[in-house]
Amino acid sequence: NWTANSILDEQVELIRNQVGSAKVLCGLSGGVDSAVAAALVQRAVGDQLTCVFVNHGLLRQGEAEQVELDFVASTGAKLYVANEQERFLSALEGVSDPETKRKIIGREFIRAFEEAERAIMAEAALEGEEIKFLVQGTLYPDVVESGGGEGAANIKSHHNVGGLPEDLRFELVEPLRALFKDEVRAVGAELGLPAEIVGRQPFPGPGLGIRIVGEITGERLELLRQADAIARAELTAAGLDNEVWQMPVVLLADVRSVGVMGDGRTYGHPIVLRPVSSEDAMTADWSRLPYDLLAKISNRITNEVDGVNRVVLDVTSKPPGTIEWE
Ligand code: XMP
Repeated sequence: NWTANSILDEQVELIRNQVGSAKVLCGLSGGVDSAVAAALVQRAVGDQLTCVFVNHGLLRQGEAEQVELDFVASTGAKLYVANEQERFLSALEGVSDPETKRKIIGREFIRAFEEAERAIMAEAALEGEEIKFLVQGTLYPDVVESGGGEGAANIKSHHNVGGLPEDLRFELVEPLRALFKDEVRAVGAELGLPAEIVGRQPFPGPGLGIRIVGEITGERLELLRQADAIARAELTAAGLDNEVWQMPVVLLADVRSVGVMGDGRTYGHPIVLRPVSSEDAMTADWSRLPYDLLAKISNRITNEVDGVNRVVLDVTSKPPGTIEWE
């Protein structure tokens, strides 16, 4: 019989025992898990923790601000921000293949993270030294899944951007290892994290990079960000956030279709809405959103987002579809 409070006390104690007086790093992705893990470690060892936010430029509207302002304000954690938008865009230039995108994003992320660590050590006048501990927001289902061997895990190369692959030299601090998602949210709320962070739906590490079917460019990212912000705002306004597991919004950048606007012909891109219901993302069904809501989202996106003239709904379950399009 757990309460968020007793988990919190217990974990604070365990973290202190594990890391002693050593320095600790934590990568923040903007997601719930890394934010709650970081906030717990901050509660336990304060300024021994430095959080690192590699902004790869593939986040949604408002998400970087959530990390840089809201997370910091609510936890008091030390944050190092690496603004790497240009780096990721140029590494991804000309790339359309989904797996190649994922590999590039993963690789650049690790490099950027390592550079951030060196910069943090240099700032602390500790050049050449390394930080031993790394916080990971691993949850109980992740533990079970990675023990389970092959299967869905091999369909796409997942990157827990914000977390890092295990072959790094760090000793891991994983205060959420015994928890399920709803427990993590409760602990996050107990730690005073804002509702927008604690209630956030799952979002892939490679971000909008795998929601643009085709090459990723700055303009396409901006367009997708606008469409996604509208879809999310309307879902929230309809009070349906809890009915939907997540709702990827996808830009078909390689497709154009003819439309009409006023007296003129348009030739724009389609946006796909992919609302799904699920228990654990391993299987999913498409969400039966109300037609009025779909109409509202479609009207607003086609009217407000320049370059988009069609909105389509994905009605595929998983399997055979995956949740993300790439
Ligand atoms: P799929 O598309 O495989 O997605 O049905 C299942 C769940 O995983 C999320 N996802 C990712 N999460 N790094 C992540 O941290 C990734 O590379 C990644 N790819 C997909 C997806 O949003 C869904 O919740």
